[in-house]
Amino acid sequence: MRILDLRVTSLGFVFVVVACSAGEPTSPSSPSSPPPAPPTGTSGPPQSLSAVTYWQHARPVLEEKCTGCHAKGGIAPFVLDSYAAAKPMAASIASATGARVMPPWPPGPLSPRMLHDRSLAVAEIKLLADWVAAGAPEGDASAPAPLAPRTVQDLPRVDLQRDIGVDYTPLAGVTDEYRCFLVDLGTTEDRVSVGFRVTPGNAKIVHHVITTLFDGASADALRAVDVESAERAGWPCAGGPVPSSLEGTIKPVGALGGWVPGVSAVNFPAGTGSTVPKGSVAVVQVHYNMHGAPTPDRTKLEIAFAPKGAEPTLKLVTLPIRNRSMQVPPGAKDVAVETTATARDLAGGKFYPDGQGTLRMVAGHMHMIGVHFTLSVERAGGEKLVLLDIPSWDFHWQGSYALASTIPIGPDDKVTVRCVYDNTDAHRAAVGYPEAPRIVTHGEGSGDEMCIGYMTMTD
Ligand code: HEC
Repeated sequence: MRILDLRVTSLGFVFVVVACSAGEPTSPSSPSSPPPAPPTGTSGPPQSLSAVTYWQHARPVLEEKCTGCHAKGGIAPFVLDSYAAAKPMAASIASATGARVMPPWPPGPLSPRMLHDRSLAVAEIKLLADWVAAGAPEGDASAPAPLAPRTVQDLPRVDLQRDIGVDYTPLAGVTDEYRCFLVDLGTTEDRVSVGFRVTPGNAKIVHHVITTLFDGASADALRAVDVESAERAGWPCAGGPVPSSLEGTIKPVGALGGWVPGVSAVNFPAGTGSTVPKGSVAVVQVHYNMHGAPTPDRTKLEIAFAPKGAEPTLKLVTLPIRNRSMQVPPGAKDVAVETTATARDLAGGKFYPDGQGTLRMVAGHMHMIGVHFTLSVERAGGEKLVLLDIPSWDFHWQGSYALASTIPIGPDDKVTVRCVYDNTDAHRAAVGYPEAPRIVTHGEGSGDEMCIGYMTMTD
């Protein structure tokens, strides 16, 4: 796999990782087929309000679009996976879905169609509202309507599981700590990862996680750094995964996966993967963001490998495009920044030998005062395409998205990332901006901003 840009800020790096990795969960079994149609239910369209029941109508929607998160072990704070659990929540189900707050699905209507779209069809919102209006009746449990697959997916299996090796308590008295942990993967042959899940051990303080891969040749040097800092596990690493004493002597060979708010398991698009060389070690960079006394964290990493002999040949590479020039004064809104570059330049001049790349996943990244994110491309012939449009940016629901149909990208196609910010008192209060009003510029902290688009491609 060619890694095209690893010399970036540590957060940008997340997304080299994410790019190779963090996307919306995508099903290996349904590469570019459209998401399944919503189940219609055995009893057909409800005849009257009182005919709308849990087993016959509400459950198929809840199971397909909600229980990927709202079930035991999911990221939501309560479950919706039984009648007993869903009934007392009926009123808030109707209001959260009616307001389109739930299910969280940031891409707007200008975005291309994505796999595993969690958003509800208008008819599904109405069906849930009708069920609630009818008093959330149970219906006939012996004749349940058929279920479609969940849109939020799990890993097909877990072939390798590691954690950061300690219960790590971050430094007291600081708001942000970046800590790197060395994790031996123990792989004795080259493998290809097809999916991963990074799970923060302490979601209250973990702001993001980036996992970078180094080959066996760099492992000893990294172990030596790890030993030097033995009084506290790992080493400080605000600048990125390479310890400053090894700058210029070792280089990452890839990425394993990351975590940003809103992301759980990530399966790569069918037929694609990311190489994990034998003897690799992973450097897990965790950004801890603390408001109050720190409590321990043990962040965990799980990987699914392609079965031996059936490794995908298409290797994922992520091209980031950034703008670092934002200056957003307090009180200002609708402040837009934009950067345009050709795909060839984004790839460091080395584009695919046959002159054509295939775009499979897209992602965007901003922090808290970001309000609108757009990634687009203008073809050599003048045709313009939106690759990702997120009209109401929410820092808590990030992730990347697998395109339902792949998009060919040529070397001279011009890619544009555009970010809009709102630094007014009202908006800062609404999003819980963590600092006093100030001119917000590019930077790592949650109170700083970023503007990055990611295109994850194969040959
Ligand atoms: C991707 C994960 C995910 C999916 C899918 C999801 N939820 Fe949620 N839901 C959450 C999380 C996490 C919360 C906690 C509040 C938050 O973080 O926004 C939540 C909160 C809620 C709440 C509390 C009220 C609120 O607005 O915060 C309701 C009601 C709810 N979800 C209903 C649903 C329903 C109904 C569906 C499916 C139609 C659904 N959710 C799909 C993750 C999810």
